[in-house]
Amino acid sequence: MRDHATSLKTLTRIAFCCLSLSLLLSSFEPPRAGAQRRRAPSQRPGAQRPAPRAAAAAPARMDFSHRRREHQLACDKCHKFPSENWKEVRKGDAAFPDVTQQPEHESCLGCHRQQFFARERPAPRICSVCHVAATPRNLARLPFPNPPEFFDQTPHAREFVSDFRIGFPHDKHLEVVGRLAPGQAEPGGVRFVTASFRRTPLRAPQESDPKSCAVCHQTYQPQGKSDEEYVTKPPEDLGEGFWLKKGTFKTAPNHASCFTCHSQDSGLAPAPGDCNACHKLAPPAARADFDPRLATAPVLTDGTILRRWRGRESSGTFRHEGGAHPDMSCTNCHNVGALNTLDPKTTKVPLDSCNTCHATATSAEGGALNLEIDRRKADPSFQCVKCHVAFGREPLPGTHAKAVAAPQQ
Ligand code: HEC
Ligand code: HEC
Ligand code: HEC
Ligand code: HEC
Ligand code: HEC
Ligand code: HEC
Ligand code: HEC
Ligand code: HEC
Ligand code: HEC
Repeated sequence: MRDHATSLKTLTRIAFCCLSLSLLLSSFEPPRAGAQRRRAPSQRPGAQRPAPRAAAAAPARMDFSHRRREHQLACDKCHKFPSENWKEVRKGDAAFPDVTQQPEHESCLGCHRQQFFARERPAPRICSVCHVAATPRNLARLPFPNPPEFFDQTPHAREFVSDFRIGFPHDKHLEVVGRLAPGQAEPGGVRFVTASFRRTPLRAPQESDPKSCAVCHQTYQPQGKSDEEYVTKPPEDLGEGFWLKKGTFKTAPNHASCFTCHSQDSGLAPAPGDCNACHKLAPPAARADFDPRLATAPVLTDGTILRRWRGRESSGTFRHEGGAHPDMSCTNCHNVGALNTLDPKTTKVPLDSCNTCHATATSAEGGALNLEIDRRKADPSFQCVKCHVAFGREPLPGTHAKAVAAPQQ
């Protein structure tokens, strides 16, 4: 078995030397401009957006899809853990065993030998899955989506849509993470904790109620004590329009957090190489309260956060740091017990968690929901802007009418 694998590797290496050589000898064109990764839904055909000019000139970049039946193999058939270059990608103390680049050629050759050696110029099309151009002049690879701290700095991050979503069982973690909150670690507490915390210990850099939430979810770009509430200067004629404010989003964790406990050494399942224990093929995206025109750079440049905004299915404007919101427990609005990160029905925040403050007995008392419903009644074209960026143009849902009819105490 091993010999077979080794000889295959050698063969591949030889094949590639020949391939590179043949490419070197052939005439080639400059790398294509405007190469793109998988596009975000808002930018798929149909969305208002000029057609990319480069499209006609260059053959389109090829997308790899995990959804294709033939590609639904064990993850480690393609993804080796850790990647060979993990120590080069993150340096020194920041480095930990991780998957930091695309799978290697061997993982495709068994089925795609023909495509790999296709007589296509400037390079076989299939190279474009991983390489910017794969011409001898330019062998650079596309940025791999992990580690996010590097990927998010590239323009690719804005377009990126994962084939997967994270299946994260909150119920199984809250207690164990809670026990790690500073000063709470029991002497001789959970053993794997000591075993796996040689690296960056997990701690909550911000306040939250319950405490454990802030270990993994922090307020992104908080306004804090600053006077500047907007992320960037809003246009003069903003009026009632929406402009992104600081402290709107909560972050979510990635390998740097998960692999402190789920490391190769700790033996705590799932192991970091068990990709499919955490990454599950994404369910169809829920309808989102999102407008790509409001999310252009420099208002929002961080790809990870942009993906969260694109995924907001209740209130696109809701600001975690706004109004009285930070004084509340996270669990007032997020039913963590019932949370299934793969099911939008359970991640949606119900209007009931807003009613107590934003719906009042009468409009005179100033409930935002009452006021907007009144204005909608007076003018059917009125767009609700307090809580929404896209939903506010739609007909009034039953939940909203009911909330005003029976405001809560
Ligand atoms: C047949 C080979 C193959 C198999 C099997 C495979 N992958 Fe991949 N995977 C790739 C390639 C190639 C890329 C890079 C493609 C890209 O960047 O668009 C990739 C990229 C990814 C990414 C980043 C892009 C994204 O869509 O989020 C994740 C996450 C990922 N793989 C997880 C998995 C998991 C989990 C499994 C097992 C269920 C798996 N892969 C199985 C080939 C494979
Ligand atoms: C187990 C066999 C198998 C493996 C391994 C495999 N593929 Fe595929 N792949 C297929 C088959 C079969 C198709 C469908 C081919 C077709 O429709 O022409 C396909 C389709 C594709 C396509 C879409 C082709 C198109 O015309 O749109 C891409 C891109 C691709 N594979 C890339 C890869 C890459 C990159 C790897 C290695 C990381 C890989 N595949 C590994 C079997 C495989
Ligand atoms: C599934 C992703 C993937 C595809 C598709 C792919 N490559 Fe690569 N390629 C890689 C990775 C990853 C490396 C780095 C491997 C390593 O360091 O061992 C690499 C390295 C190379 C290298 C060596 C570069 C160097 O600096 O050492 C060459 C040459 C190359 N690829 C050419 C090609 C060509 C030509 C094609 C298309 C026929 C192609 N690759 C398709 C992932 C891919
Ligand atoms: C150990 C880390 C961890 C802790 C602790 C944690 N979460 Fe999460 N949470 C996650 C991960 C991972 C996801 C999935 C994120 C993704 O899809 O990328 C998630 C998703 C969520 C989501 C869904 C976001 C969405 O709309 O997709 C909410 C809401 C949430 N968490 C709230 C909480 C609350 C409230 C607490 C505290 C009671 C908490 N979490 C504690 C890791 C954690
Ligand atoms: C007053 C209600 C409320 C409170 C309190 C609240 N959230 Fe949220 N949270 C929301 C809403 C609304 C969204 C947007 C959900 C959507 O549209 O999908 C959201 C989204 C999120 C998300 C997804 C990322 C994002 O910003 O869209 C995470 C993670 C999250 N909240 C965690 C927390 C944590 C942790 C706390 C406690 C520190 C908390 N929330 C407190 C209402 C609240
Ligand atoms: C503080 C240590 C710790 C951290 C950090 C941590 N986990 Fe866990 N995880 C555990 C423990 C302990 C279990 C076993 C829980 C059980 O079986 O009751 C577990 C179990 C799991 C399971 C398997 C659950 C099942 O149904 O068997 C998944 C999936 C998982 N973790 C994902 C994650 C992800 C994703 C992250 C990062 C966002 C993460 N974990 C971060 C300690 C941790
Ligand atoms: C213990 C859980 C866990 C395991 C095991 C795991 N991941 Fe992840 N992975 C995560 C979380 C959480 C994120 C952050 C997701 C986000 O930001 O939405 C992530 C993000 C990524 C990303 C960045 C792109 C994206 O989809 O957000 C890639 C690529 C990736 N993982 C690949 C892999 C591969 C390949 C493996 C197996 C070798 C693997 N992961 C194993 C939890 C895990
Ligand atoms: C105080 C905040 C708030 C105000 C004001 C508000 N909404 Fe909502 N809206 C929400 C929340 C939270 C949800 C998600 C829960 C739900 O669907 O009931 C939502 C959901 C929606 C949905 C999606 C319903 C679905 O089933 O997918 C539409 C459409 C909508 N609102 C329209 C409006 C309109 C029109 C107005 C103005 C008259 C308005 N909203 C005012 C908070 C608000
Ligand atoms: C405990 C009372 C309370 C609850 C519950 C509450 N809010 Fe608020 N919210 C406030 C206060 C106070 C303000 C500041 C005054 C204002 O703008 O109305 C505010 C402000 C806002 C703003 C404007 C934020 C800014 O800084 O521009 C939005 C949007 C909003 N809330 C949405 C929501 C949504 C959506 C929910 C339910 C998921 C919700 N609120 C739940 C009290 C609350």
